[in-house]
Amino acid sequence: MIRPILKYGDAVLHEKAQVVEAITPEIARLVDDMIHTMYAAPGVGLAAPQIGVPLRVFVVDISVGLDEKGLRILINPEFVERDGTQLEDEGCLSVPGFTATVVRPSRAVVKALDRHGQEQQHEATGLLARAFQHEMDHLDGTLFVDRLRGIKRDLIVRKIRKLSRAGKW
Ligand code: NI
Repeated sequence: MIRPILKYGDAVLHEKAQVVEAITPEIARLVDDMIHTMYAAPGVGLAAPQIGVPLRVFVVDISVGLDEKGLRILINPEFVERDGTQLEDEGCLSVPGFTATVVRPSRAVVKALDRHGQEQQHEATGLLARAFQHEMDHLDGTLFVDRLRGIKRDLIVRKIRKLSRAGKW
């Protein structure tokens, strides 16, 4: 089932998500819904809080479904290693219409449970490393806008408030 994606300003997006205690049928359904919602958007990643579920789950596919091995499902993810720096434009399904340059480590190793509850280690560079870190931020209630400073951030927040007041957000 495709679920509505919450936008910047919705409380769930700004809170820390909880650890998944067990891989239940509800969690399996949540993961399926997240995959469908991500591909329908379309997007390269989606975290559970973005569909209003405050749990530590995200899905990523930087091929957006073109590569059958591209889909990654991460439950209770944790960083193992991070190094380097990359500076690229970044957007978010919860902040539609806005992008900004965000500094991220260029390489990340993340361990997480898969949909069967097996621990997997994911090593990533470039866009995949960026996606992992963007989605991990979602689980801690942080959006890319929160990583910006000064005028850049104020400008986006002000535009969102304006759209919100006009009922267009
Ligand atoms: Ni996002």
